[in-house]
Amino acid sequence: MSERERVSVVFVCLGNICRSPLAEGFFRELVARSGLSDRIEVDSAGTSDYHIGELPDKRARAAALRRGVELVSRARQIERADLDRFDYVIVMDTENLRAVQRLSGSGRRARIQRLLEYADMYDDRDVPDPYYGGPEGFELVCDMVEHSCERLLRHIREAHGW
Ligand code: 4NP
Repeated sequence: MSERERVSVVFVCLGNICRSPLAEGFFRELVARSGLSDRIEVDSAGTSDYHIGELPDKRARAAALRRGVELVSRARQIERADLDRFDYVIVMDTENLRAVQRLSGSGRRARIQRLLEYADMYDDRDVPDPYYGGPEGFELVCDMVEHSCERLLRHIREAHGW
């Protein structure tokens, strides 16, 4: 299989312990169920260094487990090199978008997208930060992420003829 037949996706939020690990977990599960694990690389990262090395927040892990997905990633901070390495840089909100654009500098902005740009059932384009709220916030994030990840995978499959 040549490199052109592989695609890489990194999901990005602020802490890399709530939203982007949920997106990574749900998307990886979808990719596996579609038999595309050897073609699509999935990762996540945070724009901050607040939680480097930590497992996802236990509320995020519990919400994912209720939907059959185990989250096992460890938080890391996004680096400039990630913006060269990954084909799709999918951020959770407009604040993350600006932070990644700043890291990227000029010239590479087209590839950086908000996850909800792939959704067709939410008016907002930001996945709300659930960190300081209650469990219902994590359920909403899961709903948004599951829906958008399905659309993102459909987009990638169509773009590559998979
Ligand atoms: P995330 O949520 O960006 O979805 O991982 C947050 C996690 C931690 C903090 C903020 C948001 N924090 O301020 O520590």
